[in-house]
Amino acid sequence: MEYRNLGNSGLKVSVICLGAMTFTEKGWRTAGTMTFSEIERIVDYAVDNGVNFFDTADIYAFGESEELLGKALKSNKNDVIIATKVRGVMDESDPNKRGLSRHHIFNSVDNSLRRLGRDYIDLYQVHWWDNHTPIEETLEALDDLVRIGKVRYIGISDFAGWQIARSVSLQEINGYSKFISAQMYYSLLGRDIEFEVVPACEDLGLGILPWSPLAGGFLTGKYKKDENFPEDSRYKRMEKPFLRFDLNKGYFIVDELRKISEKYGKTVSQVALNWVKSKKFVSSVIIGVRSLDQLKDNLGCVGWDLNNEDILYLDEISSPERPYPQWFLDLFADL
Ligand SMILES: NC(=O)c1ccc[n+]([C@@H]2O[C@H](COP(=O)([O-])OP(=O)(O)OC[C@H]3O[C@@H](n4cnc5c(N)ncnc54)[C@H](OP(=O)(O)O)[C@@H]3O)[C@@H](O)[C@H]2O)c1
Repeated sequence: MEYRNLGNSGLKVSVICLGAMTFTEKGWRTAGTMTFSEIERIVDYAVDNGVNFFDTADIYAFGESEELLGKALKSNKNDVIIATKVRGVMDESDPNKRGLSRHHIFNSVDNSLRRLGRDYIDLYQVHWWDNHTPIEETLEALDDLVRIGKVRYIGISDFAGWQIARSVSLQEINGYSKFISAQMYYSLLGRDIEFEVVPACEDLGLGILPWSPLAGGFLTGKYKKDENFPEDSRYKRMEKPFLRFDLNKGYFIVDELRKISEKYGKTVSQVALNWVKSKKFVSSVIIGVRSLDQLKDNLGCVGWDLNNEDILYLDEISSPERPYPQWFLDLFADL
């Protein structure tokens, strides 16, 4: 296993992080379900193969994912890095059981600690921006959690570039603990973060944690043009795809991945994940699996590297159109 520093912090995380969104019956957006014995086998195999980083969230099945992860980690619980999140709606009928108020953050952290069976959270992430709470209130509450030891590091998820820049600037001005990571959607079918989020994170020292690096399984190659989606696959279970991409572009990229994978004697998933981890701004890639076989396949993306030519080719065919002001800035960058 390869380990990288999480952003500018001294914390070393495995380049593959195991996401626990698929662990539960009430999986987020039909992510799936597994028996507890399958979850245990997956978590054991991950730990035995050097994965020291696990990601969950309070809203994944309203706490059930945190509980299952804590239970499955057993005695390894204090040797690994656990990331969880706060922000989502935990109770539709209670306006205070959501968001990033001091009130909700303080209550949520205690609930997450209890469910995980831990005294502290390694990485506490704000799941997404809260338009109804001043960001200053959120940042002060997070700093207090770090100071009292309930949380060791803090990070963001799904923020816009300006939201990251504003938050970290306020943390610097106030001498608060700073965000060290940004958990964002990133894959060969979704590279939007390269325009605003990645430059902000590189400038401010946040490591990127790509989520859905296989675009929810599309980049495994199991979805084939002109064929029905495979039974019991995520896209088959979904009424409407969650991630947005052009299906034809998707099939084309998978075809090209297949050709590259044959050259290396690797699988399509392994090549797609290897491309994500080839990016210097990535600290750890958050994968999701629904079986031990999928985990074994995906962990095979570690221990080898695509050559530069193949990375550049994949960059080229997956390249999104550059929006304004990027194309303007590109044009006059050297003046
Ligand atoms: N911060 C956020 O907003 C956010 C949002 C989403 C996810 N996340 C995090 O990111 C993690 C990963 O997300 P994700 O599950 O969408 O990641 P993903 O790796 O893009 O997709 C995982 C899914 O693809 C399929 N799959 C994976 N490996 C496969 C293989 N080798 N062969 C065939 N199928 C395979 C499985 O689905 P099926 O077998 O069911 O088809 C699996 O559940 C989550 O657990 C969570 O921690 C964060």
